Amino acid sequence: MRKQIAAANWKMNLTYQLGEKLLNDILEAEIAISDNQQVIFAVPFPYLIMAKSTVAHEKGYDIAAQNCSDKKNGAYTGEVSVEMLQSVGIKYIIIGHSERREYFFETNKTLADKVNICLENDITPIFCCGEALSVREKNGQNDYVQKQLEESLFHLDQDKIINVVIAYEPIWAIGTGKTASTQQAQEMHQYLRSVLANKYGHEIADQISILYGGSVKANNASELFSCPDVDGGLVGGASLVAQDFIQIIKALK
Ligand code: G3H
Repeated sequence: MRKQIAAANWKMNLTYQLGEKLLNDILEAEIAISDNQQVIFAVPFPYLIMAKSTVAHEKGYDIAAQNCSDKKNGAYTGEVSVEMLQSVGIKYIIIGHSERREYFFETNKTLADKVNICLENDITPIFCCGEALSVREKNGQNDYVQKQLEESLFHLDQDKIINVVIAYEPIWAIGTGKTASTQQAQEMHQYLRSVLANKYGHEIADQISILYGGSVKANNASELFSCPDVDGGLVGGASLVAQDFIQIIKALK
């Protein structure tokens, strides 16, 4: 059975102290996390070690980095390598968030390199894909997102793709308060699973978690997560408020 995942993406928000308090406030709620569920906090680099030790003894909780270098190591001032992240116990890295694609010009090819380095280091990439509003208005979203998968993931063998989590995040729904309808989310997730099945077969496609991201809130999470092909969410704004994220965790199937 594929994992149902609530992933918080703090982006470039919160101080160290506020981040630590937020984590503790959520853990104090003592939410029962079942074996097929996973809660992940993608926190800024300087908070990773604190966050990792805060959730260390909590079943079902783990920490992610929000990005990594596409280079393995060397003279790349300011970059953070996958190997460095692995050495402090990180098991998940968000790859190819639309904000990185848009503001830092990350391409499908660069993201393929990052995915490869993650998998070589036993780290699960949370691979983001999703179309802009202009693409959806022309009904081009399926082809657009399929190309993102083909160019960044489809060089992987079956035994590698199985270790990837996909997050579908329509750009027009990120931070805008405009959520995709449950029908739009389910249609795209079902399409993505069919694209995966065509390439890797149904058995593999059915094991890959596909998260929805884009204005997931406490009051819409249950409806979104109830869609058969939506396996949880990648949550920005609502993950910064303990009570909201607690509700979102509780909404997991
Ligand atoms: O990574 C999270 C997504 O960008 C969604 O952000 O929940 O603030 O719309 P949001």
